[in-house]
Amino acid sequence: MLRTQMMSTGGALLICAAILTVLNGSTVSALDDEPEDGERATWETIQQDILNINCGGCHSAGSSLARQSGLVLTEKEAYGQLIDVVPRNTAAAGDGLKRVSSAGGLPGVEQSFLWEKINASEQDHFYDDHPHYGAIMPLGQPYLSNGELAYIEAWIRSGAPEDGVVADPVLLADETRFAAPEFVALVPPGQGIQFHVGPFEVWEKDDREFLYFEPMVTAEELYVTGYEISMRPGSHHFIVFNYPDGKPTPEPSVYRDLRDPQGKHNLHVLSQLAELFPSGFFVGTQTPYINYRFPPGVALRLPPGTGFDLDSHSVPSPDGKPGEVYANIYTVDRSEVEKVAYPANFNNGEINLPPHETTTLSKTFQFSETRNIIQMWSHAHEKMLEFSIVAVGGERDGEMLYWTNDWEHPPLLEFDPPLVMESGQGLQMITTYHNWTDETINFGARSTDEMQFIFYIYYPEYSPGPGAVPHEWPGEDLLIMDEDLLPGWRAESNGSVELVDLTAADKVHRGNVAGSFRLKRSGTWAVRFQSDDPVNPGGYIALRFAFHPGDVTLPANPRFRLFVNSAWVNLLEDMVDVERKEWQLVEIPVEEFGLRRFIDSIQFSGNLGGTFYLDDIRLVAGEPPPQPGTAVVESQDATVPETFTLDQNYPNPFNLDTTIRFDLPLSEEIDLAVYNLIGQKFATLAQGLREAGTYTLRWDGRDDDGRDLATGVYLYRLKAGERVETRKLLLLR
Ligand code: HEC
Repeated sequence: MLRTQMMSTGGALLICAAILTVLNGSTVSALDDEPEDGERATWETIQQDILNINCGGCHSAGSSLARQSGLVLTEKEAYGQLIDVVPRNTAAAGDGLKRVSSAGGLPGVEQSFLWEKINASEQDHFYDDHPHYGAIMPLGQPYLSNGELAYIEAWIRSGAPEDGVVADPVLLADETRFAAPEFVALVPPGQGIQFHVGPFEVWEKDDREFLYFEPMVTAEELYVTGYEISMRPGSHHFIVFNYPDGKPTPEPSVYRDLRDPQGKHNLHVLSQLAELFPSGFFVGTQTPYINYRFPPGVALRLPPGTGFDLDSHSVPSPDGKPGEVYANIYTVDRSEVEKVAYPANFNNGEINLPPHETTTLSKTFQFSETRNIIQMWSHAHEKMLEFSIVAVGGERDGEMLYWTNDWEHPPLLEFDPPLVMESGQGLQMITTYHNWTDETINFGARSTDEMQFIFYIYYPEYSPGPGAVPHEWPGEDLLIMDEDLLPGWRAESNGSVELVDLTAADKVHRGNVAGSFRLKRSGTWAVRFQSDDPVNPGGYIALRFAFHPGDVTLPANPRFRLFVNSAWVNLLEDMVDVERKEWQLVEIPVEEFGLRRFIDSIQFSGNLGGTFYLDDIRLVAGEPPPQPGTAVVESQDATVPETFTLDQNYPNPFNLDTTIRFDLPLSEEIDLAVYNLIGQKFATLAQGLREAGTYTLRWDGRDDDGRDLATGVYLYRLKAGERVETRKLLLLR
């Protein structure tokens, strides 16, 4: 009788019951120890009664989670791992916290990262003010009791000693635990979008899931730096999908239910959801409250779309209230974005769970480019018992990165620093399901169907945002092929194309014809230039080459494409003109390729027949970025002057900017700077080795910290080797 009841309520409950028994067991034995507590040092009690029970499972030597957090909390190790040790978490370390500070008093508490991580009642502060501090501990388990927290706090306040009784064991009698705050309506963001769905009815016995369309208010792309979602108790998930451009939009602000109250499916909405799932997923949560901010400078790019489809899935709330969700999407201006992040997922659609059986499904996904993962979570339905994600390949090969037994609210794992998965490495998902029903269960969107998903948000290795200043400025163009292929580049061809020896190519069309391709037959061919060391595209603005159509002939459906890595442009579309039998210079902005990683290959491919010529393939360097601080633009004329001179600046007096010219007859170390009349230096205009030549500098009247100098007379002094010359300039604001 009992057994049947359990089976009908589901396998997940069975597992929970088993875990509860174990926990109760430990609590009981801990209480049995109580009479001896007077003898035990406070630290010993914390170790034995709190850490061993709540933390050791994950934070024990050799476990993958201990490696990830860098923290071992088992007996003998824990004390040394905590006291005045810099946290692994980079944001906390940057804020100057210690895992546990021995400073004592309130400063000791405020400087202890451990306290931040366990102090559940302050979690609003924790997540709001420190979005990069990771999750509240113990991860995925009930918070420590208020008594345990008070006991640990007292210990930290008295300097966190290893010996001695510094906290009253009576504190531990308080077994109340912090309960999540009541559902609150979110204040709309200063910059961003707010969604508000509901209140809506949740069908009495069942769950309710619907899509709800909100049209987009702007036609521009958005850069999202964080989101905050607040759902009423009973909510299973809330997902925001970016509704793709060019699709007929659903009626706005209407609940499009996946099932009606009688449980009958709405196939049309189901298929809409299935279409949105893989590519439109944008942000989401499965916990009642989340407030997440991306790492500084990183923003999720939201392409311009027609709107958002909101997917809300709820079970009846324990308090009988209707469902309701607020979601804030925080955005920033383009100019503030240094790295662009993208949402992605892995999905196993091949699910087949025979009735009355426990089945484990495993599938591995490989990355084809380096990805920095900042968030990751799993998604499955009610038959799931356990979901783990294991790293495949690389340094972390075999490491279990993620584990949950909570299908309804799987934890959202944040990685700080990011989890770096390199090309060829992968993630394996291993999921165990228990199908207690009489039916075979397959993949599907209903909660009675099953799923096996990894969702994650990442930024690629090369991912400059519109506001990024490239850190490695190339300085000059990168030649790939000129007279010959440049060192570090190889050329390969396939299909019916012959790559004629570059230097020996006939020189009919131009004095320095370099590359020539002889297309033997019609058919598809490709010529690929491969770099030994991938090239950082940062700082290059265009890919340029010279093209001569030679005697090429176009087949019926002509194709002529230029690939950079795997992204391509159609050269026959306004880029080359095969009818115009002369050299043509083609320049394609690097953005056109939407690169997300370093360049390792450049490939021409197509189906043209005949012979054509290529020359001077290069990446064109952009303008150098402005110097931080003083804005000085320097240019050089290579004619070698005869004497050393420093000219009077022009204009003088000046207001916006002025030009300073000097002649350098010898190549020398120079130093040109602006001083006030008592010799204090304000701005460095040029410094370091310069070749002989005439130099012209434009200076905008700002000092080295970028501040405008005040009206006044200043001196500018040029030192070149042994020679020094000084002149006056007048700045008028
Ligand atoms: C289910 C596994 C799990 C349990 C249980 C757990 N932790 Fe953690 N802990 C982690 C993971 C994973 C991280 C790294 C991610 C993060 O900081 O959110 C971490 C990080 C930490 C850190 C930050 C370490 C650093 O240097 O950055 C502290 C402190 C911590 N845990 C304390 C505790 C304490 C105290 C307990 C018990 C009350 C506990 N944890 C229980 C998994 C766990």
